[in-house]
Amino acid sequence: MTRLGEAPPPDLLDDAERMSTDELRSLQLERLQWTLAHAYENVPHYRKAFDGAGVHPADCRSLSDIAKFPTTSKADLRENYPFGMFAVPQSEVRRIHASSGTTGRPTVVGYTARDIDTWAGLIARSIRAAGGRPGHKVHNAYGYGLFTGGLGAHYGIERLGATAIPVSGGMTPRQVQLITDFQPDVIMLTPSYMLTLLDEFERQGLDPRATSLRVGIFGAEPWTEQMRAEIEERMDIHAVDIYGLSEVMGPGVAQECVETKDGLHIWEDHFLPEVIDPLDGTVLADGEEGELVFTSLTKQALPIIRYRTRDLTRLLPGTARPAMRRMQKITGRSDDMIILRGVNLFPTQIEEIVLRTAGFAPHFQLELTTEGRMDALTVRVEARADTPAPRRAAAAAELVAAVKETVGVTVACEVVDPDSLERSVGKLQRLKDHRTPR
Ligand code: DLL
Repeated sequence: MTRLGEAPPPDLLDDAERMSTDELRSLQLERLQWTLAHAYENVPHYRKAFDGAGVHPADCRSLSDIAKFPTTSKADLRENYPFGMFAVPQSEVRRIHASSGTTGRPTVVGYTARDIDTWAGLIARSIRAAGGRPGHKVHNAYGYGLFTGGLGAHYGIERLGATAIPVSGGMTPRQVQLITDFQPDVIMLTPSYMLTLLDEFERQGLDPRATSLRVGIFGAEPWTEQMRAEIEERMDIHAVDIYGLSEVMGPGVAQECVETKDGLHIWEDHFLPEVIDPLDGTVLADGEEGELVFTSLTKQALPIIRYRTRDLTRLLPGTARPAMRRMQKITGRSDDMIILRGVNLFPTQIEEIVLRTAGFAPHFQLELTTEGRMDALTVRVEARADTPAPRRAAAAAELVAAVKETVGVTVACEVVDPDSLERSVGKLQRLKDHRTPR
């Protein structure tokens, strides 16, 4: 069982974190009505989409009326590339970020001065929920640049009253040196890059449990409870989850609280979540698993209405912040779902099994190939340095059996030497698709 951390003292919380459900819902409705009108009046795409669906911002009289409005997808942002979705004149846009995407045009997002201010406040709130405090030093290894991770976190660290150490990603040996010398309390980076850093500590003969770090805030890619246990054990820190996406703001849309570690509280004073059936778009009840959809409630430069994230999760009632709903840790993106001989499989399901199999390091890749007329999946996983050869074979057999039992499909498992797989410096791409096109 994971160890829990200390809740922030009540006087450090934002007013919104202490609201009753009724207060929060009425704030959300007022902000939703403003957002719908702002989008309709200032973004031709939304005017056309609302008119096409026969809805008008005035039709929103309660929060559930949001379901009447059309959803927005990444394709809509691409079609309006670069600045067509902006709702304010360019002279009011203070910053632009973009997410690279694997093909075609990047997705471009913009912020007014107030948007940046809101974002900094939400990151400060997130770091506090994770266990960070004013006066702490924060090692920020999210990439700086067009990616929202680095600069997004940076402004929030400063807003909290903490000290930002803006290291960005890469130059792994130097990261270890800076952690050793600057003695940070908190580290922010992707969980896969944390594993790379952990290995580097060990390569340099340093004990990662002996650092000054107390809290790690991990996000930008899916990771599992098993990965939390691995990182907490090897680093002796609290590992908590931060979620966000560029189109909705960046990091800090939702954050796990260190005193409960039970999923991520969505900062609902700024974002209205829904979960829909990814196939037919119907809104699902809280508790049911589906695709997460967000509507921004305060954003000026890029109001976003019912954005389809493609992330799969479920909404749960609030705990550490009672009025704000939680989302369960993300299972994966619908885009990352592998359909293998008719069975759906997510990389996180393989991660759970790899991490609980004795003899395996937490480094693995998934390779899809074509065998005859069928797709085949190979899990290529590193052995730990001290794993003897017979154990490697036994571990591979255990993994194959566990995947068959929990997912219901047969995969191949290839055990490779320690340090032989590609390491992450940011978001890790686990899946290699080498299928021959039909
Ligand atoms: O990854 C923002 C971010 C930066 C979040 C740093 C957290 C920390 P994008 O590059 O637009 O933005 O990618 C967003 O990353 O739709 C999810 O699929 C995935 N993602 C982000 N956080 C998590 C998380 C940033 N905690 C996409 N768990 C999202 C699982 C996550 N997936």
